[in-house]
Amino acid sequence: MTKQIKLCIFDLDGVIVDTAKYHYLAWRELAKEFGYDLTGKQNEKLKGVSRNQSLKLILQWAGVKKTVKEQKLLASKKNNQYVKLIQSLKPEDIFPGVKEFITELKSNKIATSIGSASKNTRLILDKLQITDLFDYIVDGNMTTHSKPHPEVFLKSCEALGIKPQNTIVFEDAPKGIEAALAGGMYAIGIGDPIELTNANMVIPGFNNFKLNDIFAVK
Ligand code: BG6
Ligand code: MG
Repeated sequence: MTKQIKLCIFDLDGVIVDTAKYHYLAWRELAKEFGYDLTGKQNEKLKGVSRNQSLKLILQWAGVKKTVKEQKLLASKKNNQYVKLIQSLKPEDIFPGVKEFITELKSNKIATSIGSASKNTRLILDKLQITDLFDYIVDGNMTTHSKPHPEVFLKSCEALGIKPQNTIVFEDAPKGIEAALAGGMYAIGIGDPIELTNANMVIPGFNNFKLNDIFAVK
């Protein structure tokens, strides 16, 4: 990575806040309705995957067939439950170090944006009271392609007039890392290096993470 960083794009779920546990609770409750017990391991595979695609996968694992109309109802039922669960989100739920790192980016005149598959992005950012921290926000309502397609990240580059090669993406899902690389960006994984083998660099989280830690990587 050169020192030409002009934009940092953050995935939301699993990078800024732990919403995966709420997605899991809501999907699990829904799956129980058709007699299926969704495991935590399976939930890992749903990270970064859109709502409709997640439902399709769960139905496939359960060996259950539903019409398009039924799928729409199920997806909205899951979302109602998920939205109920995330009502309790508050600023203290932001992962340690995230705000400090964004402050460092701002003092270095590096733009910030969100690139998330979630259609609930705005609600979550409002609950965490950090909407204003970002120069641009791309969510699941603005994209036609899911990760690993790079659209969700390229839209920020286009809107802010910044080239992908001057952009870093922070992602917790392998599909999100793939999307960043497909878009020609530098991908930093948040989590386990064993899960995120394709990332340019992997960190456990933002606690004590500084811009210089990126520059240190050749
Ligand atoms: C991603 C999550 O950020 O958003 C997925 O990792 C989720 O688990 C997807 O399915 C879509 O979220 P939502 O809020 O639109 O259902
Ligand atoms: Mg994520």
